[in-house]
Amino acid sequence: MEKKYGFAYTKTHVNFVSYYKDGAWDEGQLVTDDTLTLSKMSTSLHYGQEAFEGMKAYRRPDGDVQLFRPYENAKRFKMTCERIMMPAIDEEVFVRAVINTVRANIDFVPPHDSRATLYIRPYMIGIGHNLGLKPSNEYLFGIVCVPVGTYFGPASKPVDVIVSDVDRAAPNGTGHVKVGGNYAASLMVQSRAKQMGYADALFLDPISHTKIEEVGAANFFAITKDGTYLTPTSPSILKSITNMSLMTIAEHVLHMPISRDDILIDHLDHLEEAGACGTAAIITPIASITHHGKKHVFPAHETIGKTTKKLYELLTGIQFGDVPDFDHWTLKI
Ligand code: PLP
Ligand code: COI
Repeated sequence: MEKKYGFAYTKTHVNFVSYYKDGAWDEGQLVTDDTLTLSKMSTSLHYGQEAFEGMKAYRRPDGDVQLFRPYENAKRFKMTCERIMMPAIDEEVFVRAVINTVRANIDFVPPHDSRATLYIRPYMIGIGHNLGLKPSNEYLFGIVCVPVGTYFGPASKPVDVIVSDVDRAAPNGTGHVKVGGNYAASLMVQSRAKQMGYADALFLDPISHTKIEEVGAANFFAITKDGTYLTPTSPSILKSITNMSLMTIAEHVLHMPISRDDILIDHLDHLEEAGACGTAAIITPIASITHHGKKHVFPAHETIGKTTKKLYELLTGIQFGDVPDFDHWTLKI
């Protein structure tokens, strides 16, 4: 029987752990235990000193396994760690640790035809006995991986989202980096949205609450009626590697105009297709946005829109090794 992949945790053979103490990282090692023993006064527990990344390993048609733009995750992880005063991991060390962890779990990378992947979760936490509010002197950098399917369901089925009435990030806060606190701040509205039958909550800019920012744990993009790839920019949006890649594909493969501009929540009529994009979300088309009780339904709401479909096929084609990797984004391991 064909195996079903969801987005739940399953234990793989090993995970990576490396410790920082007395100003230096140790070599790190692969361990079988997927639990930790921590000081109850760890800064990660009390003060949110935690950073993470999300990336995937893909099974190619020839059976080999590849990563997608791992150095981009390494760069963002470094930026996140520095923002919350944690010791950055060198980009080469980060990618090498990811490769070693995936290699040691290679039989957990799902088959090519399943379109499932091995999700990779690098993270860093402040550990050690602390009390005062200051950066810890001790850290753990770890990598866990889990075989996964889709996060929002099939790409052929557009989802409904509802605008959040609270913010996930402050205007000059930590929205642009991947710290756990941003996600804690989003849990309440995400749960409420789901209870109400929506796939997720959509966040507006935290200053004027008039412009679209993000869709839960994914970036927002749209295809305008005149065929432009449109995505918002703001200091509180996480710079999605998927979105960056879609912009390049739209511009250089599909020869579409690209625009990084504000998208006003009360002016959506110029948009033909809308979507959420990210490592977990892949590309999830959005059917409708509900705001203050008013539901805006996009023209492409019944099934994935034609441009979003092309983007989806090109992006996942490159990731899985079906389509030529024209910009050298993949790294075979
Ligand atoms: N925005 C948020 C808040 C996210 O958590 C993610 C997921 O990583 C993204 C956007 C998408 O980023 P990426 O495409 O790099 O996975
Ligand atoms: C990712 O896309 O990697 C994410 O971080 C999403 C996650 C919060 C489920």
